[in-house]
Amino acid sequence: MTIEASTAAGLLSDGKALRVFGSSDYLGLSRNASVRAAIDRALNDFGPGLPIGTSLYTTTLHVALEEELADFLGVEMVALFSSGAVANLATVTELARQREVVVDSRSHSSLVAAAGAAGASVGVLSPDAGSPIGTTGQAVLIASDGLFAINGELADLVGLSRATDGVKDVIVLMDDAHAIGTVGTGGRGTRGRQGGVRADLITGSFSKALGGGGGGFVAGRRELVQRVAAQSPYFWATSRPSPLVVASALAALRVLQHEPHLVSELEDATVRLRQALTRHGVQFDSPPTAITPVRVGSADAAKAASKQLRDAGFFVPAITPPVVAEGQASLRLQSSVLHTAEIIDDVAAEVAIVLSHRA
Ligand SMILES: Cc1ncc(COP(=O)(O)O)c(C=O)c1O
Repeated sequence: MTIEASTAAGLLSDGKALRVFGSSDYLGLSRNASVRAAIDRALNDFGPGLPIGTSLYTTTLHVALEEELADFLGVEMVALFSSGAVANLATVTELARQREVVVDSRSHSSLVAAAGAAGASVGVLSPDAGSPIGTTGQAVLIASDGLFAINGELADLVGLSRATDGVKDVIVLMDDAHAIGTVGTGGRGTRGRQGGVRADLITGSFSKALGGGGGGFVAGRRELVQRVAAQSPYFWATSRPSPLVVASALAALRVLQHEPHLVSELEDATVRLRQALTRHGVQFDSPPTAITPVRVGSADAAKAASKQLRDAGFFVPAITPPVVAEGQASLRLQSSVLHTAEIIDDVAAEVAIVLSHRA
């Protein structure tokens, strides 16, 4: 799909206005006036980037975002990366040089691919799955999404910790790209939800709830973040995120802290969507996070359903193999505080019509 414009009402594609249920702008911050004003100011103060092509420089904006995000997450240090995927790649490949790494296979493709690049294993991380964690006697890094973007489930952090019982030296890495801003106290992510559970490192992306401008980060224990930044060429040999992106993320983070009610508004929008789907006879079985997948079956059927929804004025992407297993393709609906009760009811009615035509 090629987007011609993005407005408060939705997207314009092929000259057609689309209500969006396939965006990670959960809190509507990409449209927030102070976020947009911050981008304008950054353009004025710094231009789109600095004329130095590597991470040899920083700006006052980058420093402020690193410090304020560290405070928000309650960690010692944050380092900014050009994207969330690069943050995952840098962290996993660097730490895998001295540790056995096990990545949960349900995690984002960039985390799974990072495991591949590091020659690490991928499997379902659970105390019940019999995962052979720590069998080599080496130190271990376990990594998982906090909120799985495909099925909307939350990682079982307590279970994850139990899965590594008996392993002496464990680092836990949580990719909280979809959880920050949507889950936990004030949107602090999966740790904020399952209080007290340990994550030594958190990765994330500003392409989701925090402004949508792109760019990513690694947060956590100073010694580990410093090591990734110092050693990984995915940090030091590549450009830092643009000041425009950083300004957008910083302003979005400040809005979230001043307006934590946005997180409960998102929860309300999610409840409303689920009630509307149920009212229209649409079944789903994921927990009540802002991601609601509706199982369709074959990839062709899911793509056709998504196309029909687009024809009816809604953008609801089809999630198809290889992202999900054969036969498990789905329509994925993401909630947003921008969705009114009326729009939610309309999309639920349309999903029901599209699926009943396929039954
Ligand atoms: C869980 C998760 N991690 C990482 C990423 C990558 O983020 P970015 O787009 O900043 O590379 C995504 C983006 O889709 C994601 O869903």
